[in-house]
Amino acid sequence: MDFQELVKQRRAIRDFEAKDVSTEILKEMVDDAIMAPNASHKQPWKFVIVNNQEMMKRISDDSKNTIIAGIEKNPNSPMKGYAAMLKDENFNVFYNAPALICVVAKIKGALNGVDCALAASYLMFSAASKGLGTCWVAQGAEVREEGLLKELGIPEGYKIYAPIIVGYPKAIPAAPERKPVDILTVID
Ligand SMILES: Cc1cc2nc3c(=O)[nH]c(=O)nc-3n(C[C@H](O)[C@H](O)[C@H](O)COP(=O)(O)O)c2cc1C
Repeated sequence: MDFQELVKQRRAIRDFEAKDVSTEILKEMVDDAIMAPNASHKQPWKFVIVNNQEMMKRISDDSKNTIIAGIEKNPNSPMKGYAAMLKDENFNVFYNAPALICVVAKIKGALNGVDCALAASYLMFSAASKGLGTCWVAQGAEVREEGLLKELGIPEGYKIYAPIIVGYPKAIPAAPERKPVDILTVID
C-alpha cells in the first residue's frame, strides 16, 4: 500500500468486527511506533498492551468516573457536553473494541506529549497497513485508581498520553471533511 492509500485507510474506527487481534500483531505495531521521530532522541514512551475487554471496561469505567468528577467540580468544564453519555453505564469509551494500546510516558517532560502523539500516529498507520482499525480515545486516558494503574504497570509519575483502540473494522468510513488548507504564507 503506498502512502497516499495508507493515509486514506487510516480513519478513526469505532465499530469493530467480533474478531480477536493477536497480541503478536499488537507488538509488531509497537515495533513500528518506536521508529517515530522524538525530541533529543529521548524515546520517553512506554506501552501498555491490553488485549482483554474486561480490563478495557475497567479502564473505561475509571476514566469515565474521573471525567464526571471533573465536570461536577467545574460546571464550565469543556467536557460538560459529554456528561450524559459518560453517565450512561452502558457506554464504553472504547466502543467495545477488542484491544487497546496505551502510549505512556513521564508526566514531567515538556515534549513527552508530542513524542507520544508521534508514536501513536505511527501506531495507527502501522495498524492501517495491516488491515486493522484504530481510534485515539482521549476519554480513556483518565485512569486514577491506584490499584488499576498498578495492574497496568504504569509507574507513579507517568500517565497515559495516547490510548489507541485496535480491532478489525466493520467498514472504513470516508474521511470526515477537512477545513480548507490554510497555508499562511509560501515563500519560494
Ligand atoms: C488527541 C485525540 C483525541 C481523540 N479522542 C477521541 C475520543 O475520546 N473519542 C472518540 O471517539 N474519538 C476521539 N478521537 C478521534 C477523532 O475524533 C478523529 O480522529 C477525528 O474526528 C478525525 O477523523 P479521522 O481520524 O477519521 O480522520 C481523538 C483523536 C485525537 C487525535
